[in-house]
Amino acid sequence: MEEEIYTASANSNIAFVKYWGKKAGNLPFNSSVSMTLGSNVSTTTSILFSKRFKKDRIFINGSEAAKIPGDEKSGMLFEILAYMEKLKGTSSHALVISKNSFPTSAGIASSASGAAALVYAANAALDLGFSFKDMSILARKISGSGSRSMHGGFVIWHASDKSEESYSEAIRDEKHWPELIDIIALVSSGKKKVSSSEGHIHTVNTSSLYAARPRIAEERARKAVELITKKDAHSLFDLIMKDSNSMHAVMLDSMPPLHYINDTSWLLIEKVHEINNAHGENIAAYTLDAGPNVHIITEDRYAKELKNAMLEAVPGISFIESHAGGAPVLLGKDSSLIDENMKAGV
Ligand code: PMV
Repeated sequence: MEEEIYTASANSNIAFVKYWGKKAGNLPFNSSVSMTLGSNVSTTTSILFSKRFKKDRIFINGSEAAKIPGDEKSGMLFEILAYMEKLKGTSSHALVISKNSFPTSAGIASSASGAAALVYAANAALDLGFSFKDMSILARKISGSGSRSMHGGFVIWHASDKSEESYSEAIRDEKHWPELIDIIALVSSGKKKVSSSEGHIHTVNTSSLYAARPRIAEERARKAVELITKKDAHSLFDLIMKDSNSMHAVMLDSMPPLHYINDTSWLLIEKVHEINNAHGENIAAYTLDAGPNVHIITEDRYAKELKNAMLEAVPGISFIESHAGGAPVLLGKDSSLIDENMKAGV
């Protein structure tokens, strides 16, 4: 195998119907639906396989990743790499350098784009010929939501008890709804108190309300596909807000409770309802993941009005704006991310 650096980039995604609660192997209790974001919210990963390397090493935003006992995600990064090397039948090991396009301090989850970029880059470098569907299954094992980042545009990740059936596929590509925008209001840069890996299991094990969620969320996932296809913004926005509320309700119903929404997030949530009421219809939706940042989903023509309203509610708040973006891409076979010293020194 020739020693070449492969660099790939994958975008983050925002779930309209959320994934919360999983079984072993990151098999979700319900299907989820998302919009893949643009390249301003992405991870770029360079990978170099060499027989000179004694083991796989992964650097994320300048720090070396290690398998953390009890943290499934960190272990899986290495397991998936080892699995791909084994499949290739190579004794080479990898040097992986991964970097996010957005500041780490923004508090935006990067595991989805990180998992997708790693799998995509390794597949290219090892020439394994995996399809996007196969790669969505591999990315899923690292980070559930990473499965959805394997496609561009609007994506569904199917729930199943069988690993090979729990994959993601595109509903519509990124050109389908170009005026739809995610305005991410950056509420906090803090690290999550409870990681999503632990949170999924904690809620399933301790929330008595959780039993009701998979059926409701599954129905919503089907409905979201229909509404995205029809570009029915008003109904889709209603569904997005309800599903975010539902996920945070079961989080709060866990024991001890998981609470990711803070007072600033609530001010923004209330503002979205205020604006929707003033318009007499839903012109925007809010949705929050396992953190306090508020994603405001709207159409371009309302973006200015919404940002002004958010600034009125929380003076000085900053935003990252992103439209639907594409599937992972290979940027090239060379990269400045891996420097010569590292190549020689590892
Ligand atoms: O992929 P994970 O294990 O980081 O879980 C992410 C779950 C949420 O972001 C909260 C919801 C979702 O569907 O993206």
